[in-house]
Amino acid sequence: MHYFFFSPLSASFLFFLLLLLLLLLGTAVVFFSLLPFRFLQWRHHQHKRLPLPPGSMGWPYIGETLKLYTENPNSFFSNRQKRHGDVFKTSILGCPCVMVSSPEAIKVVLVTRAHLFKPTYPSSKERMIGPEAIFFHEGPYHSRLKKLVQASFLPSAIRGSVSAIEQIVLKFLPTWNNGVVNTLQEMKKYTFDVAILSAFGHKLDLEMEGIKHLYRSLEKGYNSMPINLPGTPFRRAMKARQLLNETFRRLIAKRRGSSKQGGGLLGILLGAKDQHLNHLSDSQIADNIIGVIFAAHDTTASVLTWLLKYLHDNRDLLEAVTREQEGIKASISEANRGLTWDDTRRMPLTGRVIQETLRTASILSFTFREAVEDVEFEGYYIPKGWKVLPLFRSIHYCADFFPQPEKFDPSRFEVPPKPNTFLPFGNGVHACPGSELAKLEMFVLLHHLTTSYRWKVVGGEDGIQYVPFPVPQRGLPIEVTPRKANAE
Ligand code: HEM
Repeated sequence: MHYFFFSPLSASFLFFLLLLLLLLLGTAVVFFSLLPFRFLQWRHHQHKRLPLPPGSMGWPYIGETLKLYTENPNSFFSNRQKRHGDVFKTSILGCPCVMVSSPEAIKVVLVTRAHLFKPTYPSSKERMIGPEAIFFHEGPYHSRLKKLVQASFLPSAIRGSVSAIEQIVLKFLPTWNNGVVNTLQEMKKYTFDVAILSAFGHKLDLEMEGIKHLYRSLEKGYNSMPINLPGTPFRRAMKARQLLNETFRRLIAKRRGSSKQGGGLLGILLGAKDQHLNHLSDSQIADNIIGVIFAAHDTTASVLTWLLKYLHDNRDLLEAVTREQEGIKASISEANRGLTWDDTRRMPLTGRVIQETLRTASILSFTFREAVEDVEFEGYYIPKGWKVLPLFRSIHYCADFFPQPEKFDPSRFEVPPKPNTFLPFGNGVHACPGSELAKLEMFVLLHHLTTSYRWKVVGGEDGIQYVPFPVPQRGLPIEVTPRKANAE
């Protein structure tokens, strides 16, 4: 019996068993350690087996760029949507793009899987606004900034500015009296003054003209070809950016040197500390002040221009809005006070006119994102690096959500729009923090304009101009007269 265990046969058999065991163990270790890798490979193959979205990539390199620029951008998108559906591919300026225009798919890009789609801008634009500005970031730096910017534009923060905004309106409306003015240019002056007020907490009398002039150059260059040669708008804009940066850094240093950090967005940015008690640097603050003022004024001015156009073209609506505003005016005069935040909450019809203007004008027709990895999306494969564009305007003009979409009809907002169908201010982590301020500017202006003046569009043609936002032709020249004189 003893020998059995030590016989040469049984020893080699045991050795064989041991080897087999080791082999199995080794295979298992290798198999399990490679499992995540195999899984990723499998996922990759799965992605690759999914089709790319339908659509045409056009010519090599130029793609469909020429078609986009020669056709009206709205019909470019809607024609393709009709042909290919709510998710389709194209190629613009050498970039493969996926256009997305259903509420559910847009929600995926902007909200539920936003981490897979980062905001993307040409590097020339990033340099011009400032690389540390909120728009160009994600993750902890973005959320830290977002909290700060949001804090200074929340209703609770801006309700105290109503009287200062009203003073701006009361100062510049009489300058329109009895003459022809360019609505867009006048609205830009108004929204610029409000943007400076919100950024610094007060007016900047001394530096204002210089800053305005620099912003004008910045805007021209922002929308031009990025050719950095002497005399080009791009070169002039980069110079303007440098001077703006110097001006704002002087203002920041002055505030840092004083005992109070002061109001406005600047006050909030100066007072901010992270969990390690670190402050934001001067360049971070300057880039964000430059960026927020930039984002705040042209957008709001374009929507205000459309508001005047739509009210001019819909006389019954103008009279109904005027009646609503007359009611507010009567209670203000009785109490012998100025307009307040609470008054602006008692303007339901005016509010719906503003909503319908935001929908119809859709000044931001779409926004840009980029896939940060290969993504499986709505049954399609989107390769890493492809641009993904949620098409806000297509949703706003979809008859399923807004029947007779071409009609200007504020009553459609008596019922709240379906989720993710009304996106003038975007959605998700990068949604606009200035939406309440923009609407407040519209309420205050409409209150005084409708109760005291009437306006007539001069020229009368109905076209659209892209500067870069869509606005009425020639910036809507109007002739303004005092309302009483007009009514007589
Ligand atoms: C009617 C006027 C306005 C419209 C239609 C508008 C629209 C938008 C939209 C659609 C976005 C999101 C872009 C994206 O997701 O890629 C956005 C972002 C932004 N807007 Fe506005 N905006 C307006 C006014 C303002 C104002 C008054 C401010 C000033 C406070 C402002 C500051 C910003 C900032 C800082 C962002 C970037 C937010 C981020 O990246 O987290 N906007 N805006």
